[in-house]
Amino acid sequence: MKNILITGGAGFIGSHVVRLFVNKYPGYHIFNLDKLTYAGNLANLRDIEDKPNYTFIKGDIVDGSFVQQLFAEHRFEGVIHLAAESHVDRSIANPLEFVMTNVVGTVNLLNAARNLWNGNFEGRRFYHISTDEVYGSLGNKGLFTEDTAYDPHSPYSASKAGSDHFVRAYHDTFGIPVVVSNCSNNYGSYQFPEKLIPLFINNIRNKKPLPVYGKGENIRDWLWVEDHARAIDVIYHDGITGETYNIGGHNEWKNIDLIKVMCRVMDRKLGRSEGESEKLITYVKDRAGHDLRYAIDSSKLQRELGWKPSLQFEEGIEKTIDWYLANEEWLSNVTSGDYLRYYESQYVKR
Ligand code: NAD
Ligand code: TYD
Repeated sequence: MKNILITGGAGFIGSHVVRLFVNKYPGYHIFNLDKLTYAGNLANLRDIEDKPNYTFIKGDIVDGSFVQQLFAEHRFEGVIHLAAESHVDRSIANPLEFVMTNVVGTVNLLNAARNLWNGNFEGRRFYHISTDEVYGSLGNKGLFTEDTAYDPHSPYSASKAGSDHFVRAYHDTFGIPVVVSNCSNNYGSYQFPEKLIPLFINNIRNKKPLPVYGKGENIRDWLWVEDHARAIDVIYHDGITGETYNIGGHNEWKNIDLIKVMCRVMDRKLGRSEGESEKLITYVKDRAGHDLRYAIDSSKLQRELGWKPSLQFEEGIEKTIDWYLANEEWLSNVTSGDYLRYYESQYVKR
C-alpha cells in the first residue's frame, strides 16, 4: 500500500478527488486531512467512508507540529494539497485567515514532506492545487498560459499566489518533487452554496433574490468539477516534476448570461412559467477589486498529458441543477448556522 495524503478532501473539489482516488486505486491508502470548516462536510463522502483504503483525519494544516507528527506516523509518499480558504468574498472580510491556511498551512506541509523524505525523493510527489486567479484579470482578449506573470488582486488570490511561490521555492531550494496546477472556476455537485452557481440554484429554488454584482459583465471560464478531478489524477501520475499545468474548460460565460441560462433551465425543471425566475435578478454593489475576466489556455495539458474536458457546459449545468434539486437534504443541512449569518452580512442592495 502507498499512503497518500489528500488535504481538504471534505470540501467541494477535494471530495471528488478523494472519491476518484479511493475507487480507482485500491493499492493506495488515501488519508483525508480536513479541518471541517464551514466548507468541509463529511456528508460529501458518505459513499466511500467505509472503504478499507480510506481514512479521515480531522486536523488543521496551520498546526505545524501536528502536521509533522502525522507525516512521521503515516509516512506519506504523495501529497495532493487542496485544503484552503477558497471564497473571494470571505477573503475581503477576513484576509488573515487566508494567509494562515493558504500560506502558512502550505509551508507546514512542505516542511513536513521535506523532513520525512529527507532527500530521498524516489516515488515521492507533492502536488499543489491552485487557481487561475493568481494571474489576475484579463481584458476582452487573450488567455492565461503557464507563463503569464502573477498579478493577484484579492486577498484570496494573493494568498494562493504566495503558496504557489513557496511550493516552487521548495522545489528549487530543497529539491522537493513538486507539481502545480492552476484551474479555472469549477461547478458541479457538493459545492458550498456561497459560490455563484450553487447559491443561485438554491435561491431560484426558494424564490429568493439573485444578487448579481455590478452589471453582471464579469467573465469566468467554467469547468465541470469531475473533469478537474480527472485532470488532477493525470497530473499527479504523469505530470513532470517542477512543471505547472493550466486546467480550464474553454467555456467562457458572462455572469449575467450564465444566470439567465440557469433561470431558464430551472423554470423548465420546476414547471414554472418562462421568465419567472429571471425576475429574481437583483443588481447589488460590486465586489471590491472584482476581476473582469478569467480564461485559461489548457493546451499544454491537452498536448502533453492527453487530458481534455469531457462535458459540454449545456450538459454539465443540467446535471448540476438536477443534482441540487435531488439533494435537498444536503442543501438544507449546509445552508444553516454560520452560513446564514455570513449571508445576511454579505449582501448590500444597490
Ligand atoms: P472548499 O472551500 O470547498 O474546500 C476547502 C476544504 O479545505 C474544506 O473541506 C475545508 O474544511 C478545508 N480546510 C480549510 N482550512 C483548513 C485548514 N486550516 N486545515 C485543514 N483543512 C482545511 O474549496 P474548493 O472549491 O474545493 O477548492 C479546493 C482547492 O482548489 C483550493 O485550494 C482552491 O484554491 C482550489 N481551486 C478551486 C477552484 C474552484 O472553482 N472552487 C478553482 C481552482 C482552484
Ligand atoms: P464566485 O463563484 O465567487 O467565484 P470567483 O469569484 O472565485 O470567480 O463568483 C463567480 C462570479 O460571480 C464572480 O464574477 C462574482 C460573481 N458573483 C455574483 O455576481 N453574485 C454572487 O452572489 C456571487 C457569489 C458571485
